[in-house]
Amino acid sequence: MEVTRERAWQTLTQYTKSEALRRHALAVEAAVGWYARDLGEDEEFWRATALLHDFDYEIHPTLDQHPQDGAPILR
Ligand SMILES: [Fe+2]
Repeated sequence: MEVTRERAWQTLTQYTKSEALRRHALAVEAAVGWYARDLGEDEEFWRATALLHDFDYEIHPTLDQHPQDGAPILR
């Protein structure tokens, strides 16, 4: 399955309803996207990765759950 920014956004917004957490994801995406472009890396892939880095925080808010319990959802 291809990793795309659009699929990452769909997954993020499926599991994250908080406006603050969505804004955090977008801010991290902007920074990571800049670095990916600057370093000649796959910007789409790294933007998607940044959007998803906390995607499960609302359903797994504790250190013993986040992010490892979110990994099976992404797989
Ligand atoms: Fe974060």
